[in-house]
Amino acid sequence: MLKLGLLTVLVAAATSPFVHAVSSQIYTWKNVKIGGGGGFVPGIVFNPTEKGLAYARTDIGGAYKLNADNSWTALLDFADDARWNYWGVDALATDPVQTSRLYLATGMYTNSWDPNNGQILISTDYGKTFAASPLPFKVGGNMPGRGMGERLAVDPNSNGILFFGARSGNGLWKSTNFGATWTQVTSFPSTVDTSFASLGYNSDKVGIAWVTFDKTSGTSGSPTPRIFVGVANKGSSNIFVTNNGGTSWSAVAGQNTTFIPHKGVLSPSEKAIYVSYSDGAGPYDGTLGSVYRYDIAASTWKDITPVSGSDLYFGFGGVAVDLQKPGTIMVAALNSWWPDGQIFRSTDSGTTWSRFWEWTSYPDMNKYYTYSDSLAPWLGPNYVDTTAGDKQIGWMMEALVIDPFDSNHWLYGTGATIYGGQDLLKWDTTHNVSLNAWADGIEETAIQGLISPPSGPSLLSAVGDIGGFAHTSLTTPPKASFSNPTWATAADIDFAGLQPATIVRIGTGDSSSGKQCALSYDSGVTWTPHSGAADNVSGGKVAISADGSTVLWRTSANGVQVSSNMASFTTVSSLPSSAVIASDKKTASVFYGASGSSFYLSTDSGKTFAVKGSLGSSTSPVKIVVNTGVTGDVWVSTDKGLFHSTDSGATFTAISGVTQAWAIALGAPAKSGGYPALFAAANIGGVGYFRSDDAGVNWVKINDAAHGFGSASSNVLTADPRIYGRVYIGTNGRGIFYGDASGAAPPPTTTASTTTTTSTTTTGTTTTTKSTTTTTTSSAPTGTAPAGAYGQCGGQGWTGPTTCVAGYTCTYSNPYYSQCVPS
Ligand SMILES: *[C@@H]1O[C@H](CO)[C@@H](O)[C@H](O)[C@H]1NC(C)=O
Ligand SMILES: *[C@@H]1O[C@H](CO)[C@@H](O)[C@H](O)[C@H]1NC(C)=O
Ligand SMILES: *[C@@H]1O[C@H](CO)[C@@H](O)[C@H](O)[C@H]1NC(C)=O
Repeated sequence: MLKLGLLTVLVAAATSPFVHAVSSQIYTWKNVKIGGGGGFVPGIVFNPTEKGLAYARTDIGGAYKLNADNSWTALLDFADDARWNYWGVDALATDPVQTSRLYLATGMYTNSWDPNNGQILISTDYGKTFAASPLPFKVGGNMPGRGMGERLAVDPNSNGILFFGARSGNGLWKSTNFGATWTQVTSFPSTVDTSFASLGYNSDKVGIAWVTFDKTSGTSGSPTPRIFVGVANKGSSNIFVTNNGGTSWSAVAGQNTTFIPHKGVLSPSEKAIYVSYSDGAGPYDGTLGSVYRYDIAASTWKDITPVSGSDLYFGFGGVAVDLQKPGTIMVAALNSWWPDGQIFRSTDSGTTWSRFWEWTSYPDMNKYYTYSDSLAPWLGPNYVDTTAGDKQIGWMMEALVIDPFDSNHWLYGTGATIYGGQDLLKWDTTHNVSLNAWADGIEETAIQGLISPPSGPSLLSAVGDIGGFAHTSLTTPPKASFSNPTWATAADIDFAGLQPATIVRIGTGDSSSGKQCALSYDSGVTWTPHSGAADNVSGGKVAISADGSTVLWRTSANGVQVSSNMASFTTVSSLPSSAVIASDKKTASVFYGASGSSFYLSTDSGKTFAVKGSLGSSTSPVKIVVNTGVTGDVWVSTDKGLFHSTDSGATFTAISGVTQAWAIALGAPAKSGGYPALFAAANIGGVGYFRSDDAGVNWVKINDAAHGFGSASSNVLTADPRIYGRVYIGTNGRGIFYGDASGAAPPPTTTASTTTTTSTTTTGTTTTTKSTTTTTTSSAPTGTAPAGAYGQCGGQGWTGPTTCVAGYTCTYSNPYYSQCVPS
């Protein structure tokens, strides 16, 4: 389907001149294993009727299905640039009747950050494939209150019926046809219009928090009459009930409205609902809360909050009931920031509780668990916050579940991973259970920067929330994230071209972590904070000179700065504060910059920059990459396409057919001595990921319908200089993928098209633009016989024919490509 769209656009665009052929090549794509999730897991849901069936949802990295070996399989990797907001999963429902049916409420933000409305994704095959049912409003998978839930529920007695609780005051919605179409439940109280508005993200109303069917009120085959709905509201009624399948609603009598109800979990055998409350919507907040048990038959509420007084300094999030052992329940502190998270367990419906850990005499504690992070050792017992104790148990704990078929098997989600175990009943006997980091297969990091130096580890990453890594293996998780300094989020990373073990990375402003620039001289194993960095400077992009002596830093709020030999950074006033930057990888004194339509060059180690050339009509350059072997051979991606210069930016060729480009990278050439393979996240008759082995003349599309990589403009690329064809894609929510070409690159399809070569020269204030347009086609090399019509007949690294069949002349196109065009 994508291919078809691509060809259609190619034909349609024939009047706008370009030359190239796009074919596709099968790539194998795998996650670079970080192995521990890496971000917030707001929801985990077990199917109550099919043993072993469970799913997890994440806020920026899609949904996952649990495997029998406790690992997880991603379900939404098909989400491409147009469907990037599918990776924000605000609610998940697994059908208790036809268990192969799965529903996901997706959409990233309810504010302007995401212009798109949400959708219910519907699967009838356990998440292997989905159809989308569009909603007339936004869904906020990465909004405050995303750990409440679930907002989406399937009627357990009549599974064609679903209810979905919207955000933003949009009310309660119902489907009677397995999610295909939705209508608003207008009888639902308008309290959602005035519901709690979170403080963050434009203070949008969190709206409906959860929908819980009381299965016991109905009979199989008929709609369930009694449904409870929790609303993110405090100070007035926030739990409502219908006893007639949604025709009329009333506030549940006797409820305590002091806090926001995060979860309402049914214990069917007890005919009870357990509700966790917090004073904030979460996931980061909560300093007070409570837990209540509602006896449905008696219509009575009981406060069963496990702690009180000064022990209560958090709200409550996750609630789990053991369907095998009625009355056995667990609740999680939503955020107990110090000294660690906390989980409580009761075997008597909340009358008495025991804890996951306890103080003996401060600062000693009894930990009633054995901790293992062997699947993600970088999580470590001292993950991130080394000053505030060992937060092994976690934080942002909204997802807490006990396997409905196995009282020993439990899982919970945190701000960083999933933990779980298979000996939970030991809690009630020896009071010592195993706790394992069990997010294997879940990769939900937001990647900020990637490099693949020519020696040392093949990949180093700058990662949101968890710092970054030297990936000495792509298939086993790293042992530790970067440290000294340790930042939550690293913004960028670069290596020195002539001394590739010298690496620079920058952070985004963890004030507690001091300098936000650091250097490594051993490929990222050990680090030294950059002593010349001011404490209040952070973020942006960074480049290091070929010899490793000079760091050029385009900060997020303090302009462009430069430092040589660890001296204090000084302002570079000749480069705009919006510039993208790069270092030459061969000549230590050379740096590049781009801003608007201007390309800048520095030949004095970044002290001063001057406009060297023009990037056509570009208004927003994205990335500069440099051919590591040739000083002055640079590529620039922009909102108006892809530009190539071989003279340090004095003149640029606009690469034909590329209408917009984001991340770009150069990697090992197809043939020894040839031009580096060029990779681009770009619009080449359609948005995708492409490779060119001939410096931008012909392209192969390397991603497929199963690998969309989300938002193209958010992603970063690097290509391996040691392995031809290998590219790394850092996504905004699904971690890092690496792709390898499967078999030989196919010949480009012969495609009639036209070409324009634009070279723009800026001399002083005069800019001249040359355009040449030819109608042409291109085809694959044909060995030592003369090249055929429109075939390649020369270029750096070219070993094929250098003459053309009769009627055609070998014509220079660029240093890397000559082509047989009609004589
Ligand atoms: C409602 O909950 C708050 C907070 O837990 C508590 O202080 C208050 O006493 C409760 N009100 C009633 C009537 O139980
Ligand atoms: C639980 O078991 C682990 C491993 O044997 C041990 O280190 C820990 O001290 C035990 N916890 C308690 C409270 O006995
Ligand atoms: C950074 O902090 C220093 C010292 O506190 C101060 O002099 C300087 O003005 C600050 N710079 C900016 C851009 O805020």
